[in-house]
Amino acid sequence: MQILTIVGARPQFVKAAVVSRAIGAYNSKAGVDTVKETIIHTGQHYDYNMSDVFFDEMEIPRPAVNLSVGSGNHGEMTGSMLAAIEREMIERKPDITLVYGDTNSTMAGALAAVKLHIPVAHVEAGLRSFNRAMPEEINRVVTDHVSTILFCPSDSSASQLAREGITSGVHVVGDVMYDAVIHYGEKAAVIKVDSPFALCTIHRAENTDDMTRFNGILEGLSRSPVQIFLALHPRTRAVVEKNGVKWPSNVIVHEPFSYFNMLGYLKACSFVITDSGGLQKEAYFFGKKCVTVRDETEWTELVEAGANRVAGTEPDRIAEAIEWAANGGLGSRGQIYGKGNAGELIVNTLAALGES
Ligand code: UD1
Repeated sequence: MQILTIVGARPQFVKAAVVSRAIGAYNSKAGVDTVKETIIHTGQHYDYNMSDVFFDEMEIPRPAVNLSVGSGNHGEMTGSMLAAIEREMIERKPDITLVYGDTNSTMAGALAAVKLHIPVAHVEAGLRSFNRAMPEEINRVVTDHVSTILFCPSDSSASQLAREGITSGVHVVGDVMYDAVIHYGEKAAVIKVDSPFALCTIHRAENTDDMTRFNGILEGLSRSPVQIFLALHPRTRAVVEKNGVKWPSNVIVHEPFSYFNMLGYLKACSFVITDSGGLQKEAYFFGKKCVTVRDETEWTELVEAGANRVAGTEPDRIAEAIEWAANGGLGSRGQIYGKGNAGELIVNTLAALGES
């Protein structure tokens, strides 16, 4: 069985690391390389600290090719990826294409494959924010509806697919990001900070491209009783520089964190403030409350579990949610995202397909 994995943006490297490792384990157990994987990097993320550092730290097999698509408008970026991925697929003739999450690289990989009648397996299927202004929501919907195999992180994501009429090929396997935290957790950087702090990331287009929302978030952050360590995404850096934005005095800005640094900060922080999807879950895995500075979340289980508050971008609501989060971590937690063996379940399912 020949798998062609398409990655391109930071969160996909973390997810693909888990499945690549599980493929290695599957082949070692079988004593023969039954499952062969080739990785294609679209080049959507290209800075060292947004891409290569993840391959280095997590020992992800090097991509066979980097398509160097880079940044651009959504149509231009997705179109360039589509054309370049298609060429690779025609040449490599994979049995199946594996895509992750909800980025433009995900959708381009899925579309290129189905047009060539290559089945698509989507890891992190069934997530919905129901906000179609988000590019990620369009990418999720399109990818799920052209996929043959849908790997869901939770029961609720599988139920959502059923509501959209997708019931065949659906497998609830848990969240590969939970596997990653379990496997790489001991490699977390040791972060020593004298006083309590919150960990923060802001990068969503809907927040960075709307200064009313962005300034609302900054005002909310300024009211935090503890200092805030913010890992600065290049998109946010560009917006801050262009608009001459001044960070509140309690916000300490860092370069984007490597995965092991991120794990270290997650361990050491008191709570998390973010508009990222992945970090909302990672906060939960580390027993930390999360303030989500968006109007909705696709990770609704976290809100239902009392672990996450969707605070929007109004300063008063953010300040109120921060007060709640600063008031202690999470107690005992259920395994809403599986048992930490999602990678193994995914590879077993794919390998069984190869045999059928
Ligand atoms: C993308 C994903 C988002 C994901 C995020 C993780 C889409 C639509 N969005 O958003 O879902 O949460 O990745 O980080 O696919 N840039 C650099 N260096 C890089 C990468 C980006 O400087 O290595 C800058 C460029 O100026 C670029 C901007 O960041 O224009 C935005 O990058 P882009 O890949 O378009 O989207 P992200 O905001 O990273």
